[in-house]
Amino acid sequence: MDRFIIEGGAKLHGKVKISGAKNSALPIIAAALLTDKKVVLENIPDLVDVRTMIELVKHLGSEVEFSHNTLKMHTPKIKRIDAPYDIVRKMRASYYVLGSLLARERRAKVSLPGGCAIGPRPIDMHIRGLETLGTNIEIKDGFVHAQTHFLKGQEVNLQGPKGTSVGATINVMLAATHAKGDTIISPAACEPEVVDVADFLNKIGCTISGHGTHTIVVKGKCTPASVHHRIIPDRIEAGTFAVAAAITRSKIELTHCQPEHLTGVLDKLEEIGSSIDKSNDKVVVKGIRNMHATNIFVAPYPGFPTDMQAQFMALLSVVPGTSTIKETIFENRFMQAVELMRMGANITIEGDTAVIKGIRKLSAAHLMASDLRASVALVLAGLVAKGQTTVSRIYHLDRGYERFEMKLRKLGARIERQCE
Ligand code: UD1
Repeated sequence: MDRFIIEGGAKLHGKVKISGAKNSALPIIAAALLTDKKVVLENIPDLVDVRTMIELVKHLGSEVEFSHNTLKMHTPKIKRIDAPYDIVRKMRASYYVLGSLLARERRAKVSLPGGCAIGPRPIDMHIRGLETLGTNIEIKDGFVHAQTHFLKGQEVNLQGPKGTSVGATINVMLAATHAKGDTIISPAACEPEVVDVADFLNKIGCTISGHGTHTIVVKGKCTPASVHHRIIPDRIEAGTFAVAAAITRSKIELTHCQPEHLTGVLDKLEEIGSSIDKSNDKVVVKGIRNMHATNIFVAPYPGFPTDMQAQFMALLSVVPGTSTIKETIFENRFMQAVELMRMGANITIEGDTAVIKGIRKLSAAHLMASDLRASVALVLAGLVAKGQTTVSRIYHLDRGYERFEMKLRKLGARIERQCE
């Protein structure tokens, strides 16, 4: 297992190239199972999760070549219809093959993902949506066994306890491409990654409209075609580097990003005092010494993303005044707070709200990463702590950030990877 050693206090400067979005790449690789024609995907980030998805589609019968962020995939025939536990336990997003396998083979056997560090994360809405399209689903021996004689286009209601679901919207959209008749998904998630998947599906010959709104219509016909598709930039990686600029009071230029996907995050950074300069595919973020406290309310896109609240908690720990973060999407997603408190941060958790009283300086500590976004928050805190911070279990971070420490080092951070 690897860990990071970070020497706090270095100013950052320069440009950082934002990679392709993990949360687009994973479902799009699963969606590529829908066509027997060749698919070329560009801007695929080289991440542990992407490698896991490649392992899964190879298991199902795809021929895959992956180098220099380009993935060539060809699935003339699906050879297996199961997603084994050993792969699914490494990555929840494996459940995306459920929709694709049902569409192409009318059956699938996918291991249940189980809980994870950020809460129970059920898949009942995926199951309900696929049942509405005419799938018989049985949960047995830790697997979802799904089969259908034919999928029938329907109105699919994806209202869940916390609103709609990104994953269920995509899974239902994948299955509905091969249904008889039209499917209307409502309320649908309108995250940019959902839009990217729909754009990809349209390119391979499916007919989807309404993506980017809360009502998606999938015409139940798909004439598979070969396709080149470029994955959108990762808005969470971009947001993380934006926070790196703010917390270190430095100036960083984010290149190859899509500023309109970053509105919720950049508006918040501007509100607390950072300066933001946006142009086509670039954003310059400049942190200043005198930032001020704020209140963050996590919400679905275009609101403030749950995947950015941990990084903001690190930042607000060193911003004068009292800030709050209300997490409305996942339970138990303040895992980073306890570790930040070990660095001296003044944080109290009251139900779904964290109250953060900014202090002048964090102090270095030995820290343990617990999930993807919590890990990166600890690294950000380490960048400004006094002394040498160690962040262990960074395999969590490697799931979602491509060459993270190299990108930070290029900006001037003092960070090293060590084998524990
Ligand atoms: C995706 C993202 C994740 C992001 C999240 C919210 C991927 C691979 N992951 O996760 O990074 O944090 O969107 O933007 O794209 N829920 C149910 N039943 C279900 C499905 C979801 O109750 O069947 C609940 C969840 O527990 C959560 C809420 O709905 O409280 C939203 O979850 P969802 O949008 O499904 O998140 P993911 O797709 O898993």
